[in-house]
Amino acid sequence: YGVPGLALRTAARRGDLIAGTTADPAVRADPFPAYDAIRARGPLVRNRVVNATATHSVASAVLRSEEFLVAPSAAPTSWLGVLSAAALDPRALGPTDPPSLLAIQPPDHTRLRRLVSRAFTARAVSGFTERIREIADGLLDDIAGRTAPTFDLIESYAALVPVTVIAEIIGVPAAMRRQFLAWGNEAALTLDPGLSWRDYRSAERALRASHRWLAEHIASLRRSPSNEMLGDLVHLVDDGDRLTDTELRATALLLLGAGFETTVNLIGNAVALLLEHPEQLARLREDPSGWDNAVEEVLRYDSPVQVTVRTARSTTEVAGVRVREGSNVLVMLGGANRDPAVFEDPHTFDVTRGNARDHLAFSAGIHYCLGASLARLEAGIALRALFERFPGLSAAGAPTRRGTRVLRGYQALPLSS
Ligand code: HEM
Repeated sequence: YGVPGLALRTAARRGDLIAGTTADPAVRADPFPAYDAIRARGPLVRNRVVNATATHSVASAVLRSEEFLVAPSAAPTSWLGVLSAAALDPRALGPTDPPSLLAIQPPDHTRLRRLVSRAFTARAVSGFTERIREIADGLLDDIAGRTAPTFDLIESYAALVPVTVIAEIIGVPAAMRRQFLAWGNEAALTLDPGLSWRDYRSAERALRASHRWLAEHIASLRRSPSNEMLGDLVHLVDDGDRLTDTELRATALLLLGAGFETTVNLIGNAVALLLEHPEQLARLREDPSGWDNAVEEVLRYDSPVQVTVRTARSTTEVAGVRVREGSNVLVMLGGANRDPAVFEDPHTFDVTRGNARDHLAFSAGIHYCLGASLARLEAGIALRALFERFPGLSAAGAPTRRGTRVLRGYQALPLSS
């Protein structure tokens, strides 16, 4: 491990709750008691390098506040303000360089988001319903056609539905999808603080390779138009405004990465939870109109993105606590989603919960997830199709969690059909 990992782990060993949620594997496996402890200590708590909140109202206010910006273009490995691999290498290529939507501020953000968002409105996304169903059914056919009754849900299904859908929307050829999945898994590590030098290097290689491929692909789209989203964006001119090649690469990569690295966790977490709560699964089988709310409850209870970060634009106050200019606030989305002030019995998984949709799993404010409608639709279709196809679906061994800190999901989820 490089310096950041060490610093974080040392702080975690000394009982630093905030560091523990990312650096201590035991806390990470079940971070919810730590979030409760942070919330009990105050609406905004602080260690030597960072502020954090697991309180819903404060998290929501910080995310919506103009006083706070997304972390500027330094790679998020330096989130905690400690020496980071990125800081040591000025040419380092993080997911925010060239800057994507997630790393830029208005007015650039407003302009880029407006250009891209038309493809992801709830209405535009509902047009993908049939195709998502076909993709899910095709993958289930493959699973059903195997001789062995056991399969890994993540590898054979949960990862493939989202990557196939987003790659089709953007216009990445089928032959490249597994490659992007592999690059995405390596690159996702850069979301985490305290990254080892080796992981950092492999993430950087994956990012560079995907940028190279996309640069060539965009050049070919400039020569010959295509109907997919990237093709449209390449040729889009809006009030004389158009996306530069750098913006196109950054946007395509963000959409691809955000499109599958998160939804895989939503589908995996949902299946694990429903198999643990057969009575709730039975209720959904009886009344499939409950599926949409069940997806919201999974998002709340086991949020695929556990934490995000904001930087104070100037010295300000949050919940009575002074936050200095340039200092960071860790917004613990997974903790806010278990806040008893908003969710009754927050640690109970209940697919019929009335206000499940009040979760912050998709963030809030101007960076609210652009793909929220797509993720909801995909997960609803994929889950229903899976449980309809295999009525006797059951666990076939111990699941393993991903080692990632920001993203929360399963690495492997062995099931028996
Ligand atoms: C932003 C979560 C699926 C595209 C975000 C953010 C969160 C999030 C928490 C904001 C981070 C912040 O405020 O710092 C999720 C979850 C998903 C999911 C939990 C699935 C369960 C998707 C999909 C797409 C997507 C399918 C593909 C279109 C984006 C984009 C942004 C974003 C482009 C940046 C928006 C901006 O900065 O304006 N997502 N996401 N996401 N997401 Fe998602």
